Amino acid sequence: MQLKNKSVVITGGSDGLGFSLAKVLSAKGALVNLIARDKKKLDSAVKELGSNANGFVADVSNWQEIERVAQKIESIDILINNAGVWIEGSLLDCEIARIDQAIDINLKGVIYATKAFLPKLKKGTEAHVLNVVSTSGLKGRDGQSVYCASKFGVSGFTEALKIDLEKTNVKVTGFYPGGMKTHLFDKAGNPKANQDWMNTDKVAEIIVFMLEQDMNMVMDQVVLNKRMTQTSN
Ligand SMILES: NC(=O)c1ccc[n+]([C@@H]2O[C@H](COP(=O)([O-])OP(=O)(O)OC[C@H]3O[C@@H](n4cnc5c(N)ncnc54)[C@H](OP(=O)(O)O)[C@@H]3O)[C@@H](O)[C@H]2O)c1
Repeated sequence: MQLKNKSVVITGGSDGLGFSLAKVLSAKGALVNLIARDKKKLDSAVKELGSNANGFVADVSNWQEIERVAQKIESIDILINNAGVWIEGSLLDCEIARIDQAIDINLKGVIYATKAFLPKLKKGTEAHVLNVVSTSGLKGRDGQSVYCASKFGVSGFTEALKIDLEKTNVKVTGFYPGGMKTHLFDKAGNPKANQDWMNTDKVAEIIVFMLEQDMNMVMDQVVLNKRMTQTSN
């Protein structure tokens, strides 16, 4: 798909990978519509991006809020479900409120945003839903039972929706990154020494390359990892 003048919605577009995606896409001439909860951070992201960007304050885990945003955006060609939160620890140590939050945002948020924007995606000639999952949506990991549950849920949703929409104008793909250098972990109270993890600007370029492929080609289930070296953490 040609990205110039296309309307793209990026959930979690104010920080980390979402903001990197917004930068690359707006540089390609796309109109980027960012969704996030923190208005101050969102406003500053939109300001930095310039005239090709709009910001919408909403929580993807709140159906009414996300539906309201979907009504405000006139047309949409690409939805990038990227918003997410981290949760770590043994199941017995995870508080119920944090478990609910992780499942609500990471899994229900993807389902809600897709349901809210799908009618408008179906109106165009070419459309794409790209879900930013995680390698934790493919493989179980120590201390990640709840995070993996949320991300495996998104993997299943992505795979089934792809089949549901096979004969429509909407392509559905999943992107599965490993560790990236963002503040995802310290926001959850689990800081990581992740300075040498993947750079989100580089990761965003790969996602944009996926989006640029012709509609009759599917570059799907792309797994991207940091190459491990002897000094890696
Ligand atoms: N970083 C990694 O190592 C890594 C690896 C694999 C996969 N991932 C996945 O990649 C995605 C992006 O992660 P990141 O590392 O870039 O995270 P990040 O830097 O913490 O950014 C997360 C973004 O999501 C937004 N967000 C969080 N909860 C939201 C909600 N309920 N409604 C709307 N927006 C919300 C945040 O803004 P507000 O807080 O203002 O809402 C922010 O813009 C996530 O799905 C994450 O699970 C990350």
